[in-house]
Amino acid sequence: MDLEQREINAETITPYFEKYFGHKPAVIAAAPGRVNLIGEHTDYNNGFVLPMALENNCVVAVAPSPSGEHRWCGSLGDMIYCVPAAEASSKGEPFWSNYVRGVIAKLKEHGIDPGPVDMLIDSNVPRGGGLSSSAALEVAVCTALSKLAGAEVAPKEKAIIGQAVEHEFVNVPCGIMDQFISAHGRKNHALMLDCANLEYKLIPMEDPEVSVLVFDSAVKHSLADGAYGQRRRQCEEAAQIMGVPSLREATLEMIESKKNDLGDVRYRRARHVVGENIRVRNFAEAVGSGNWEEAGVAMRGSHASLRDDYEVSCAEVDTLVSLCDSIPSSSSIYGARMTGGGFGGCIVALVKSDAVEQVGHELLDAYRDALGIETTYLVTRAGDGARVLRHA
Ligand code: GLA
Repeated sequence: MDLEQREINAETITPYFEKYFGHKPAVIAAAPGRVNLIGEHTDYNNGFVLPMALENNCVVAVAPSPSGEHRWCGSLGDMIYCVPAAEASSKGEPFWSNYVRGVIAKLKEHGIDPGPVDMLIDSNVPRGGGLSSSAALEVAVCTALSKLAGAEVAPKEKAIIGQAVEHEFVNVPCGIMDQFISAHGRKNHALMLDCANLEYKLIPMEDPEVSVLVFDSAVKHSLADGAYGQRRRQCEEAAQIMGVPSLREATLEMIESKKNDLGDVRYRRARHVVGENIRVRNFAEAVGSGNWEEAGVAMRGSHASLRDDYEVSCAEVDTLVSLCDSIPSSSSIYGARMTGGGFGGCIVALVKSDAVEQVGHELLDAYRDALGIETTYLVTRAGDGARVLRHA
């Protein structure tokens, strides 16, 4: 994965669309990836999450296909896949097309049918790094196709559609966080979401003195490999043992009193989720009052809990988070933690803006010295959620 990214927008994608399909795109839409600031593995437990949209987007250009069948191109330089209209809403090849097929199927369930389309996808959301490149794809395709069909699909509905596509077409039993932030992101704001009822609050992240650093461990992560689903099941079992509908209703006292019934693993999984929900609220309050030190405390607590209780970190990511405490500029870092599903991917850190590049360079050097891994980082502000960039 490379976090140093090229610019993409309506102007950059249009000439490629014309070259591939010989006519102009009718709609161009974009949806961003995300970085989660805090609230990890809480979404599928009806808990709180606090992500922000990246400035990196998946951009999708579409137009009605004059050929009468779908023609899709998954990225610049890729071949064009022709898909008969009758097969476009079933699973198929190539693998990435299932994100498109799933969205078409779900839109149909809403009575929305854009008909056969020519579609070109381009993205500068890094793949496989826990930055939700797939949510960006689902939400961008949904935004482009619904606009082309002349239908209004609310952001919340786009998020639900995207999540259903993951469950039914890609076999990833994810929560709603990634698709929700991709659909609802707002420039210079993070978003605190209550996954129990999908109510949310925008959290201003406008302080020019604080920057968000996303640093890649260069360890590839994959959510489809079973560990994610296993965590979900352990949480559901823990809730059942404690007699609550979900871990959202559990308290730390309850977990302590049921420690024996839960057994060590479920006890620790539940302790992470309940503690993380508290940390999200503390973090939101700290950011709201500009208390970045306190926000950093919540992030550190989150990482330790994900590492020790939830066991979704990995050695490389733990090394990175520890290096944040030992590099020469460590006093410029408020807090750092793993971000996303885990087992690799990126860390996120809140850093004093005047030192953020210095911190990035020191981390690159320290990580190379420690593990021999060459990697990249990204300094980002919060970007906007899904939007139509252009339509005919
Ligand atoms: C992945 C999933 C999300 C969420 C995170 C962990 O990104 O897609 O729904 O569960 O992992 O917080």
